[in-house]
Amino acid sequence: MPATVLIGTQWGDEGKGKITDYYAERADVIVRFQGGNNAGHTIVAGGETFKFHVLPSGLLRPGKHAFIGNGVVIDPKVLVDEIGQLESRGHSAKNLRISDRAHVILPYHKMLDGAEERLRAGAKVGTTGRGIGPAYQDKAARSGIRMAEFVSPEFFKARLSENIAIKQRILDAYGFGEKLDEKAIFDEYSGYAKKLAPYVADTSVLLEHAMTQGKNILLEGAQGTMLDIDHGTYPFVTSSNCVAGNACAGAGVSPRSISRVVGVVKAYTTRVGEGPLPTEQENEVGRKLLERGGEFGTTTGRPRRCGWLDLVVVRHSCRLNGIDGIILTKLDVLGGIGKTKICKAYELDGKKTETFPSTMAMLGRCKPIYDELDGWADMPAQEMVALAKKGYSALPREMREYVRYVEKGTGVKVEIASIGPEREATIER
Ligand code: GDP
Ligand code: IMO
Ligand code: MG
Repeated sequence: MPATVLIGTQWGDEGKGKITDYYAERADVIVRFQGGNNAGHTIVAGGETFKFHVLPSGLLRPGKHAFIGNGVVIDPKVLVDEIGQLESRGHSAKNLRISDRAHVILPYHKMLDGAEERLRAGAKVGTTGRGIGPAYQDKAARSGIRMAEFVSPEFFKARLSENIAIKQRILDAYGFGEKLDEKAIFDEYSGYAKKLAPYVADTSVLLEHAMTQGKNILLEGAQGTMLDIDHGTYPFVTSSNCVAGNACAGAGVSPRSISRVVGVVKAYTTRVGEGPLPTEQENEVGRKLLERGGEFGTTTGRPRRCGWLDLVVVRHSCRLNGIDGIILTKLDVLGGIGKTKICKAYELDGKKTETFPSTMAMLGRCKPIYDELDGWADMPAQEMVALAKKGYSALPREMREYVRYVEKGTGVKVEIASIGPEREATIER
């Protein structure tokens, strides 16, 4: 009954989608356990590119079961669209199940997300604007609407009415003139509810059944550890716990069911949104990483801020998540960039520190301490699949030394090296 948790170790966009799809071949059930459609997971399979926001990235593998756990916040419109797109491309969503306890994102959550960001003026979080924070606020405030109620018209109507009365007062106080049309929202969203109703189930019970039958479970994280509401760069974080510990609460499984945790590490650093980023390179190196890595947000299209790999961050992640093995992605992007740098510690107020500080004021004062490593030549993207087929020892020596440095710096084995977006550009060691 082994369950594996797959976690992003940085600020998201590490390549979790690609790696989830890769692992999904050996899994029976793939489960999203937190976040919502702030996530954007890209999978390149059979020459086609798929972008998933709410659907688990395992759905591209025929015959696999995919669950959206109770810890996820669901925008029904986005989910219905995503299911439609998947089916229009010849893939089936019949094995999808949505937790009856997952919360629903409604139009007022998106309005509130936008309004709160505008009011924050100089202190913006830089959210994706998808209503994620306000939906989790409602969950914690015990006024949220869960899938089980959403798909029951009389409950949905009553709960929507109660919520709209309050949200309208808040929006009025914010002064942006947004008006909520209760009837229009009910009519539109009841349509989505009807479409989603067949998928709604008690996914925790289904997972228990699957585990007693010895099925392999893959719990797919969204965002990354540095976006975790407790352990990330607060307040520049998302509104859920992204660490492995939350996989249990967010999927409805016991901690005893987790047998393994794997962490996806991008070979350099990126983030979208605001907040200090110690290894950011606002120069030629940063521009090259952005361009070569195609570092534009999957969800919002915003350019990602880029910089050198930060091992203070990755160690923080390894400790918090209990990472058993690292998957190191996008190594190909560093090719041809010249000498590479890896941050091994920070200097904070004249002292060396190897742990991640708690406040953004402290983080803003941290200066990275780097080691410089030899670079390797650029290789055409179309050669990466062929190179991967030759195995790990065929990789350039300098690339293998980079991998070794990451292992030494974290104390965790790099089990998979990824050198391209395709499934086949993946090397197990
Ligand atoms: P996620 O949010 O962690 O799933 O990551 P995203 O999908 O948002 O961003 C990762 C991007 O890098 C996607 O466009 C992937 O197709 C791509 N990608 C993943 N692994 C690799 C790799 O090893 N090399 C290259 N060049 N691209 C990769
Ligand atoms: P995946 O799963 C990168 C960031 C936003 C913003 C902060 C809060 O694709 O790795 P939110 O809308 O969640 O309230 O925004 O979190 N963010 C992500 N950045 N990848 C993601 O997901 C993200 N999900 C949220 O940019 O800084
Ligand atoms: Mg992403």
